[in-house]
Amino acid sequence: MTGISRRSFFIGSAVAGVSTLASARTFSLDAAPVNLFGPASGIAKLNANENPYGPSPKALKAMVKASAHGAYYVRRSAQILREMIAERHGLSPDYVVLSSGSSGVLTYLALAASQQGKILAPDLFWDTTSLMGVRNSSNGIVRLPKSTSLSIDLEAMEGALDSDISMVHVTNPNNPTGMVLDSAELRAFCSRASEKCTVLVDEAYNELTADPAASTMIPLVKAGKNVAVARTFSKIYGLAGMRVGYMIAKPELLERVKQYGLGDYGLNQAGVAAAVASYNDNEFLEYSKAKIIEAREMVSEALQQNGLTALPSETNFMFVNLRTKNAESFRQAMADRNVLIRGIYRDYTHWSRVSMGKLEDIQQYVDALPAALAVTG
Ligand SMILES: Cc1ncc(COP(=O)(O)O)c(C=O)c1O
Repeated sequence: MTGISRRSFFIGSAVAGVSTLASARTFSLDAAPVNLFGPASGIAKLNANENPYGPSPKALKAMVKASAHGAYYVRRSAQILREMIAERHGLSPDYVVLSSGSSGVLTYLALAASQQGKILAPDLFWDTTSLMGVRNSSNGIVRLPKSTSLSIDLEAMEGALDSDISMVHVTNPNNPTGMVLDSAELRAFCSRASEKCTVLVDEAYNELTADPAASTMIPLVKAGKNVAVARTFSKIYGLAGMRVGYMIAKPELLERVKQYGLGDYGLNQAGVAAAVASYNDNEFLEYSKAKIIEAREMVSEALQQNGLTALPSETNFMFVNLRTKNAESFRQAMADRNVLIRGIYRDYTHWSRVSMGKLEDIQQYVDALPAALAVTG
């Protein structure tokens, strides 16, 4: 199925209201003309930081088993997952809250924080959940000025921390830059900042960093600080569509998060089973990480050959400096070549984010690069 015929299938079904209903009544998944659950074949989907090597074989097996019991709400399996996560970090299970993706817990904490004050954040970060949190509040997000290196300026952040701020939001490694902060500096910053407000560290990509144990702020939670760390099964675990994420924080802080979430009631059997089966699956995690590093090397080399560079990434995506070229125009040129990447972030008009994927998809990006750049304005 080509990109064009896939697009016309969706457009056709959206505009032809009556025929949509007729086909919906007789719809058969087996006979569906497109892959409803992922990219069509021939499309290199490199726009959402997923890990297409997942789910792991162990996760798939667990999902089949759990789905057979899909008549029942999630209960014991979620307790097990919390226990597993807590045990790894030397905490008790009441330090862990699960949600549908980490977007759940991140949004709930932002909702709680926005009741008490403003959220302080860098100019560029994965802001979806904090934006959700402040949507119905008179308190907004205070963003730091742009930093020239595009890294998070912790000194500026500390300087901006006044009594209006109820929460600091740090994403480490950051999205879309892919850059990781110096662990010692971040630790010192979080310790001091957490004396004044809640500190949220979104560690969605922690497992992909060069030294995950050194770069995590979870030890600060253990030390009793007012710090919350969010993690997800959507990235290296390859389970984005199964929707499991979690937050680690002291129980008093998690009580505020729980006020907004549905708790285990918001989880699904297959997702939790997949997470339990994947959590300690080091073989799969190491395999995925190796493939992601290989993909980053392929992209770096191709960029170099085309006179471009990217920021140093410790994630499964890269932020490419297009210099004089416009990122939206480049996104379109790549989409025309069946390669899906991200367009402009805020006013960073010349920066383009590409996710790592299967090596054949990365090869498609590499092959499309010269021609796409040539037609990019
Ligand atoms: C930094 C960061 N945090 C959190 C998420 C949320 O992912 P999920 O809700 O699938 O856990 C994303 C998704 O791309 C992300 O980039």
